[in-house]
Amino acid sequence: NMKPVQVKLVLLGEAAVGKSSLVLRFVNDEFQENKEPTIGAAFLTQKCRLEDKVIKFEIWDTAGQERFHSLAPMYYRNAQAAVVVYDVTKASSLEKAKSWVKELQRQANPNIVIALTGNKVDLVSSRRSRRMSVDNEDEDDDERDAQELDEDEEDDEDYGISRQVPTEEASAYAQESGLLFFETSAKNGQGVAEVFTEIAKKIPLE
Ligand code: GTP
Ligand code: MG
Repeated sequence: NMKPVQVKLVLLGEAAVGKSSLVLRFVNDEFQENKEPTIGAAFLTQKCRLEDKVIKFEIWDTAGQERFHSLAPMYYRNAQAAVVVYDVTKASSLEKAKSWVKELQRQANPNIVIALTGNKVDLVSSRRSRRMSVDNEDEDDDERDAQELDEDEEDDEDYGISRQVPTEEASAYAQESGLLFFETSAKNGQGVAEVFTEIAKKIPLE
């Protein structure tokens, strides 16, 4: 049955974490460096073709600014899927994401598929991430660790920004809360299609 299955999806998360940018990447394969804050909410649609079904996402991209919080229930009510977004360079945005997850689990459709997404991974250099994983495997090499720490500090100066949410921390939280988990970059596209494809796979055929 290749008739599109309509799926209502809502994006939630702190202001400026990149919700609209993720949607713009998914729908138009574009990125805007200075995207304006969303007022109220925006509505977009996009199809997602799987082997056995076609999903037509009806996407409600909500505004993260606190003054719009009270509108959110209108958009997550009846939603079959939610993408809850935080910014990997901002620890407080994960706390905000957790409070959205709690609200969804209390107030939304009990079968809602929730994907937790750590966005802006392009701001965290891959060199740095590779070293972090090497450090974890080989914790005894103090001399080299110290040297790498110096390099990390140089990186921080170069970029003025660093990861504040370790992948393992967010993924452990997602697992214990029954959420899908992704890290993405709306800027370079990394992981973005996967978020929507994995959600589509989890939506039951009608
Ligand atoms: P509200 O609508 O206010 O809730 O914000 P939002 O979550 O929709 O964030 P938006 O998509 O407007 O992005 C905020 C800023 O972050 C913009 O300047 C984007 O260009 C930037 N941005 C979004 N995603 C990424 C990303 O993956 N990497 C980088 N480097 N910047 C990003
Ligand atoms: Mg927005």
